[in-house]
Order: sequence, then C-alpha cells, then structure tokens
Amino acid sequence: MSHEVVEKNVGLMAILIVIVISFGGLAEIVPLFFIKDTTEPVENLKPYSALQLEGRDVYIREGCFTCHSQMIRPFRAETERYGHYSVAGEFVYDHPFQWGSKRTGPDLHRVGGRYSDDWHIAHLNNPRDVVPESNMPSFPWLLENVLTGEDTAAKMKALRTVGVPYTDADIAGAKEAVNGQTEMTALVAYLQNLGTAVSIR
Ligand code: HEC
Repeated sequence: MSHEVVEKNVGLMAILIVIVISFGGLAEIVPLFFIKDTTEPVENLKPYSALQLEGRDVYIREGCFTCHSQMIRPFRAETERYGHYSVAGEFVYDHPFQWGSKRTGPDLHRVGGRYSDDWHIAHLNNPRDVVPESNMPSFPWLLENVLTGEDTAAKMKALRTVGVPYTDADIAGAKEAVNGQTEMTALVAYLQNLGTAVSIR
C-alpha cells in the first residue's frame, strides 16, 4: 500500500492512526502493571486505620482535593518546600487516590507530623485564627458531627476485596474505634498520617 492511498482516504487514515496510538499507549501503560515500583507498597506503608479511613472520607466529602494536591513532583522547588517527592508505592492502598490537580492551598502529601493536632483543629475550625491571611474556608461543623462507625467495617471489607490487607481483627474493631469520635478527630488522624510511610522524607 503506498502512502498516497492512506493520505487520500480519511477513513483509512483514521483507522490506522487509532491502531498506531493504541500500540503506543499499550507500550506505555501495560508495563506499569508489572513493575514492582508502581504496584508494591513502600516498606512501612500501613492501611489506613478505621478512624483515618473515616477522616479520609470527610476529606473527600468536603472537597479538600479541589484546593489541595497530594502529589509532590520531583522538582527541586517542590522537594525543598514539601519534602521528598511522592512515589507510586505510597498510594497502593488509596482507592481512589487524592493526587488532585489544583493547588489553591499547598500540597498536603507530606503534611503528616508537620503541625500539632491542636494546630489542625484550630486551623480547620477557622483558618484565620492561625494563618491570618488565609482564604481557606472554615469547617466548624467537623467539631460537632459525631461518627457512629456504623458502616466503617463494610468500607474496610470492600477495600480488602481490592487488595488492602485489612485483617479480620481490624474489621471487627472498626466500629468501636470510630464510634463517638468527631469528624474533626478523624480528619486530623488522616492528615497526621499523610506521607509518613516513607523513610526517605
Ligand atoms: C478554597 C480552597 C481550599 C479548600 C476547599 C481547602 N483548603 Fe486547605 N488551604 C487552602 C489555602 C489557601 C491554604 C494556605 C493558607 C492556610 O494555611 O490556611 C490552606 C492550607 C491548608 C493546610 C496547611 C498546609 C501547610 O502545609 O501549611 C492544611 C493542613 C489544609 N489546608 C487542610 C485542608 C483540609 C483538610 C481541607 C478540607 C476539609 C481543606 N484544606 C480545604 C485552601 C483550601
């Protein structure tokens, strides 16, 4: 088949383009499923505790990801500011991951341990109390909303089916670990754990 045939026939060209792009895509994507770096958890990575898991759901519900990314890129400006760049093995228990694509506020991937619990509580309750120039919204209801832990075990079971290694004991103790805690406590537990699995911080 001469090149002219392809150039003069849009339909044929479209089909051939799709075939070429599919192969290119496969060559980039398929290996990721087999490379240890992208599929195996980093050493020390633990599944979220029952309380952290509920905190993560609060994070998602409140749309924190619309202003905060959780992915530090491997550039000097980023690593100097936030710490070690994020690696794929840190996210294998995240379903779905919270990488985000918007940074109205700072990246949060390595925020764990950077501030005290009290700082986070004051900040989430009213950011202006600790960062006067902040334009982050206040989330005062997190202090009032109390969790029951009613469906925490079910969430953990669901995550187990997609490969998060929760034990039967983790699941059995889930309700008790969560019941009676405020959403604020859960969210802070989640934030304080972020990015702490990596020893290369
Ligand atoms: C409308 C955008 C917006 C939303 C939504 C938002 N934030 Fe923020 N956040 C900011 C901005 C801007 C800052 C920087 C000023 C400050 O520290 O308050 C910030 C700062 C932070 C910090 C301090 C980070 C650091 O390294 O100093 C934390 C922690 C944080 N936000 C958590 C959250 C959580 C949790 C939620 C959801 C409950 C949330 N944010 C929702 C904009 C937002």
